[in-house]
Amino acid sequence: MNTYIAPSMLSADFGNLQRDIEMINNSEADWFHIDVMDGQFVPNISFGMPVIKAIKKHAQKTMDVHLMIVDPDRYLEDFKKVGADILTVHYEACTHLHRTVQAIKALGMKAGVSLNPHSPVSVLEDIIGELDLVLIMSVNPGFGGQAFIENTYQKISRLKALVDRTGSSAIIEVDGGVNDQNITALHKAGANAFVAGNFVFSNENPSQTIQHLKKLVS
Ligand code: DX5
Ligand code: ZN
Repeated sequence: MNTYIAPSMLSADFGNLQRDIEMINNSEADWFHIDVMDGQFVPNISFGMPVIKAIKKHAQKTMDVHLMIVDPDRYLEDFKKVGADILTVHYEACTHLHRTVQAIKALGMKAGVSLNPHSPVSVLEDIIGELDLVLIMSVNPGFGGQAFIENTYQKISRLKALVDRTGSSAIIEVDGGVNDQNITALHKAGANAFVAGNFVFSNENPSQTIQHLKKLVS
């Protein structure tokens, strides 16, 4: 099964954004992970359309956009316009999740749903067949550089069982506190896409760090 490494641009140097984008273009990374925070769904505000558009201008890989915003239906079309390839919304932020997922797909994007650490995998049972990706949060969303929550392994195993049982083709992505100490076990538990922010960008050689992570799950 394919594996995907998705460096989180939240940890990039925004004064040298193009340099960091080119580093990812030239690395073994598979996706650009783009964290959008609205100061309501999560306590932090990150960035919006103009910054995503600027990233898209240089990015030569899949744009994996993770929306940590309330009522994302308002902006689905805008995210398509600025270049999202995969658009992930939070289960906790959508009253009519099925409708939201259909709308994302109708716009020609892959549809993902993310679960906060407290939300059980079972809430996805009736929608898993519609999803291209499930994003398991292994920290409480809002900030990069937080400590990994250990319960995530069990949660990914339960999701993998659900995916296998239903014949779903959803990618299982894990986000938050991913590093070279936990990525192998996360892969074994069933994850096949791995977001890494702080671990990649705090290293003096981010490209080599990406290569190291990729090797651990290949
Ligand atoms: C957290 C974001 C993550 C974050 C990951 O709210 O969704 O994508 O940037 O960063 P690290 O790898 O530093 O935990
Ligand atoms: Zn994220």
